[in-house]
Amino acid sequence: MPKLWAGRTSGVTDSVADDFNSSIRFDCKMYKQDITGSMAHAAMLGAKGIISRQESEQLIDGLQGILDDLESGALEIDLSCEDIHMFVEQVLTARLGDVGRKLHTARSRNDQVALDLRMYLRGQIDEITELVKDVLKAIVDQAEENRGVIMPGYTHLQRAQPILFSHHLMAYAMMLLRDLDRLADCRKRMNLSPIGCCALAGTTYDTDRRFEAERLGFDGVVQNSIDGVSDRDFCLELMSCLSLLMMHLSRFSEEIILWASWEFKFIELSDAYTTGSSIMPQKKNPDMAELVRGKTGRVYGDLMGLLTTLKGLPLAYNKDMQEDKEAVFDAVDTVKMCLKVFAPMLATLSTKPENMKKAAQGGFINATDLADYLVKKGMPFRSAYKISGQIVAKCIAEGYVLETLPLSEYQAFSLLFGEDLYSEIDLTACVEKRISEGGTSAASVEAQIAYVKEKLA
Ligand code: ARG
Repeated sequence: MPKLWAGRTSGVTDSVADDFNSSIRFDCKMYKQDITGSMAHAAMLGAKGIISRQESEQLIDGLQGILDDLESGALEIDLSCEDIHMFVEQVLTARLGDVGRKLHTARSRNDQVALDLRMYLRGQIDEITELVKDVLKAIVDQAEENRGVIMPGYTHLQRAQPILFSHHLMAYAMMLLRDLDRLADCRKRMNLSPIGCCALAGTTYDTDRRFEAERLGFDGVVQNSIDGVSDRDFCLELMSCLSLLMMHLSRFSEEIILWASWEFKFIELSDAYTTGSSIMPQKKNPDMAELVRGKTGRVYGDLMGLLTTLKGLPLAYNKDMQEDKEAVFDAVDTVKMCLKVFAPMLATLSTKPENMKKAAQGGFINATDLADYLVKKGMPFRSAYKISGQIVAKCIAEGYVLETLPLSEYQAFSLLFGEDLYSEIDLTACVEKRISEGGTSAASVEAQIAYVKEKLA
């Protein structure tokens, strides 16, 4: 069948070229946005007298019929069409005849596709926002259920200082709160309507872009018609936000994988979020966390791909831009899948506080507190640091930990040491002394949890 755009050419194209050119396989996702966008356009054409009221109503009813039929399954998307825009217009024209041919007045597929994509993606941002909140709720729940659980905090993956497990979890909560902020910010710029920019230069008809924008829930209109049809910043911004979000989930996944190993055994994942091995009967593998970590690369790839596609494009629309959708849809779908598995995986894991505590006891992670003890007795920090290091070396050589080294041995290093040193280096005391804002003391972590809960409310 000749294309709707047959005219200058016969509209008869080679079938391989057709397949190559067509985007309906992936842009069919936007059928709803395409149809509601067209309904607003038909309403505007009628309100402005560009078509008659009656024609406008016929178009709107016809479009509603297509939407209903697609949703009920009475109508199937014809994958031999070039794209979703052409499909809808073709069905409409088949159903309404000449009136259907009036819909595309004062519009182009260039502003139409930009409109559909903005509408589709803002809905996806809303869904992703809810899914991120589910992860945040799981984090808060685990933090509350594990109040007071002490684990080693790490730098360089070497035991560093004792912290509360809930403090560590709240670090991830802060990252995800920033992700929510970024998504909301991205949505603001996305939520401006490009419809009415037409092919690139605007139109000679007396249209009302704000009428359409308002009907479709936009906050305003894009200000330059050339920009309106060439801009894909909103896709790139969203993929940047999603890349950061995935980076956070990936770091969290990495820790979950480590913590679930026999070497750590800080947590046990629920069976529902693990897999076995086809050969090794003892295995319980953290595949979900690994896949989240793995899929992070794919979301970065989507971002890099589209950045590269756009970098050399002259204004305004170029067909290269059709490549935007597979990239941004893949990023969105991947992130949603990851979030959907991450929240329950997190909610159902159980912790092993005794193992965390044991790990915290065995790495001299209270050595900073030992140095601080001497400082509080009047010694300059650098000297206290050196002596504490020498004491750690002695303990390692002779099989002690700081808690078991006798006072007489301490006093051989400095007479400032007294019996009270043992209570100062007690792990719980080490944690509880860190009352600085954002620190690891129970009170400080409670404040962090309250902060996150307030943001979620
Ligand atoms: N399928 C096209 C896309 O995704 C729609 C816009 C087509 N515009 C055009 N001038 N050929 O970009």
